[in-house]
Amino acid sequence: MTKTYNLASKEPVYALKNINMTLNPGELVAIIGTSGSGKSTLLRMLGCIDSPSSGTYTLNGKDMATMNDQSLANYRNQEIGFIMQDFALIDYYSVKKNILLPLMYEKKKELKKQRKKELLPLLEKLSIAEKINSKVTDLSGGQKQRVAIARALINDPEILLADEPTGALDEQTTAEIMAIFKQLNKEGKTIIIVTHDMQVANQCNRILRMQDGHLAEAE
Ligand SMILES: Nc1ncnc2c1ncn2[C@@H]1O[C@H](COP(=O)(O)OP(=O)(O)OP(=O)(O)O)[C@@H](O)[C@H]1O
Ligand SMILES: [Mg+2]
Repeated sequence: MTKTYNLASKEPVYALKNINMTLNPGELVAIIGTSGSGKSTLLRMLGCIDSPSSGTYTLNGKDMATMNDQSLANYRNQEIGFIMQDFALIDYYSVKKNILLPLMYEKKKELKKQRKKELLPLLEKLSIAEKINSKVTDLSGGQKQRVAIARALINDPEILLADEPTGALDEQTTAEIMAIFKQLNKEGKTIIIVTHDMQVANQCNRILRMQDGHLAEAE
């Protein structure tokens, strides 16, 4: 697939050029590459936040271009969890409220109830149970990222996509967050991590390198 950004009065930006890739369920993959090489663009395509300019993206056997906006939004909400470098939490909400946010769109009452029951075990698993009622502003970076991971997991998605999830964290906290990702991967989640940190990339089972919009498997 390709992705071209056409900006008014500017040259088009060819952010992704002929990307051809297959990800298998249960993989733990790192995407590396210099700034501007297209990593975040690729992650957005994989997460169906954005659609390719040409080519197709098939997820679980389904061509994503055939889905309408509503079913795509539902699919994304159920099957894909996003984790960002800056955590993307709502600062003035409590930890609990942030994590339960994705359930707002859940129409099935029974499922919603069931998911809510998962909140505490999830927080315990991520070692932030005692912070359940804290405001996000009172947390450390590592704690904030755990909250973001909990929010990404609340709907029990199949895929986790993380864009430089440890970019704002120190070495020790990075190791802790990576231990969480590796554990989740062991439990069956497919995880894709964009990173500049080779220590992070080397803990993944496969490394993809983006280079000026092209994709290469790292040697
Ligand atoms: N919404 C957009 N509109 C126009 N151009 C964009 C847009 N998003 C990204 N680009 C361009 O596409 C190219 C790839 O950007 P992308 O954000 O994917 O890079 P990246 O590898 O994630 O970089 P970084 O490591 O700095 O986050 C860049 O040239 C960027 O300027
Ligand atoms: Mg980026």
